[in-house]
Amino acid sequence: MISPEIIEEIRQKANIVDVISSYIEVIKKGNSYLACCPFHNDKNPSLHISTSKQIFKCFSCDKGGNVFTFVQDYEKIPFIDAVRKVANLIGYHCDELDKSVRSIDNSTKLILSTLKEASTLYSFILKTNEGIKGVEYLKTRNISDDMIDYFSLGYCPEDGESSIKILRAKNISIESLDKAGIVVREKNHFIDRFKGRIIFPLFNEYDEVIGFSARRINDSDEAKYVNSINTDVFNKSKVLYNFQNALKEAHDAGYVYVTEGFMDVFALYLSGIKSSVALMGTAFTKEHAKLLKKLNVEVRLCLDGDEAGQHGMLRMIDILENENIKYRIVNYKNCLLDPDEILQKYGSEVLKKFSNRLFERDDFVFQYYLKKFDLNTIDGKRNFSNQLVEYASKLKNPIDRELLLKKISEKTGISYDSYANIINQLEGKIKKEEVGKGDKNISISLNTVTSKKNITKLQRCEDKIISLLLNYPNAIYHYRQGNNYFNDEIYNKIADYIIDNYELNNNQFDVSKLITTLSQKDDEISKKVLDKIIELQDIDPRQIYSDDLLDESISAMKEIVEKEELNKKLKNKTPQEQAQIIQTFWSKRR
Ligand code: GTP
Ligand code: MN
Repeated sequence: MISPEIIEEIRQKANIVDVISSYIEVIKKGNSYLACCPFHNDKNPSLHISTSKQIFKCFSCDKGGNVFTFVQDYEKIPFIDAVRKVANLIGYHCDELDKSVRSIDNSTKLILSTLKEASTLYSFILKTNEGIKGVEYLKTRNISDDMIDYFSLGYCPEDGESSIKILRAKNISIESLDKAGIVVREKNHFIDRFKGRIIFPLFNEYDEVIGFSARRINDSDEAKYVNSINTDVFNKSKVLYNFQNALKEAHDAGYVYVTEGFMDVFALYLSGIKSSVALMGTAFTKEHAKLLKKLNVEVRLCLDGDEAGQHGMLRMIDILENENIKYRIVNYKNCLLDPDEILQKYGSEVLKKFSNRLFERDDFVFQYYLKKFDLNTIDGKRNFSNQLVEYASKLKNPIDRELLLKKISEKTGISYDSYANIINQLEGKIKKEEVGKGDKNISISLNTVTSKKNITKLQRCEDKIISLLLNYPNAIYHYRQGNNYFNDEIYNKIADYIIDNYELNNNQFDVSKLITTLSQKDDEISKKVLDKIIELQDIDPRQIYSDDLLDESISAMKEIVEKEELNKKLKNKTPQEQAQIIQTFWSKRR
């Protein structure tokens, strides 16, 4: 655990504008800072950042919070990990923070420490006499000593037993080695899954080893690569090779390359491109896209030049579009190689130039089908047209669509109008299918409108009071003097939190600090309190505060509460009793 004092120190040292800027583009406008809100599909910047309050709030989707909750929500990580990230971003170090570990359970901790030990051992072995074969192999692939260190490469001895023996001698149990996916059972004993192979450790975004991939040295060995099996910490379809380094490099580079294999990442590294990741032979998933999105830079697709690679990139388009990720695609022209083979054949300068030749989406798709079909045949023309017109019909932007149709028409000699006609027919079909969906959307928006209107008069008064307390410190002073209270538990809690915070900060209210406190509680009430505070917090309060404003709202609230109580008392009473009750009520009021 990290102590509250350290968390507070980090919060004070961090500047929310700087931290948010490292994730998304922030625009300065006069004295305020604006950004396109990453928590909803934002077209115009509606996220406002206040430097004086050190908070952010979106005027469109109502999301808001402080520097920690921004990172927490953006990265979808626990609060305490967000604190750690912010500390990293601002270069804050202290022993307590460095020693404390991520909020993970003991069994996960054990797996991670086992993997770390194993990785350190494999790296060590590579540099001893036992590792000579590994070093020689890496030389044949142009991998330098620098790269061995940078990628933490290693070697697992051929016998498959010595590595296990050494790890066992370090008090690591067979169960741990098994849970970490390092050993396989062979008859009555366990051997190293990666024996006789070059080791590529796989890391998560916290720079922790979560598994291994291991390449054969002898062509006679069965599989070219052996991967860790899926464990509690490793899932192949959620991992991108080299993501931990891309995380450090992408921001400065402004891009990240996505390749198929390890060797392609190494090849790009040799041509000066450190911001790259590899899919490790699996299909691209939504989880991969989510990881890439965190880098917040242009994604550059650079799978192999062969049909499998090109088709793989075509299939990635839908996922990237759905995740709203900016991307371009490396133009392979007619080259069938992968980046590693281009490096071997033509050298690093050529690879560098090559990787900078980038297609926009529609040009890539056009070229893809152009390569695939023979336009000298009628069949080829038909298939080419069908594929591309269907693709064009899905384009949302009419300009993109028209440009593409013109290009197809020029290539095939078939008239633009013919293509436009097909699109119109396709559109009619799509519209019919969408009628049902449209209705649903309407009812959703109606619901949200009514729910906002549905708040009672009482709630409106209570909101008004809290919003004055949140935005005008003088109101806190005045409220406290009057010994006021709310009838509703949540509102009372909010007022208590505000007053406590005000008193502890020498009569100054620090909303960002309060958000930090509340974000660390996970009971329902604290969550409601936090939501309400963010809802009612003004980024830039413009009203001129006077005590009368607060008094008016408080009396309005009291009146509503009294009337509600009176009505309750009057229920099921005879007219005579009712008259008596009303009389007492009035005499008390004067
Ligand atoms: P080299 O052949 O050494 O140049 O490696 P590469 O990285 O170019 O491999 P390739 O392009 O053939 O495959 C791309 C990726 O798919 C590799 O980096 C591996 O992650 C994965 N892969 C390839 N072959 C195998 C295999 O036999 N088993 C497993 N599990 N994965 C493989
Ligand atoms: Mn290769």
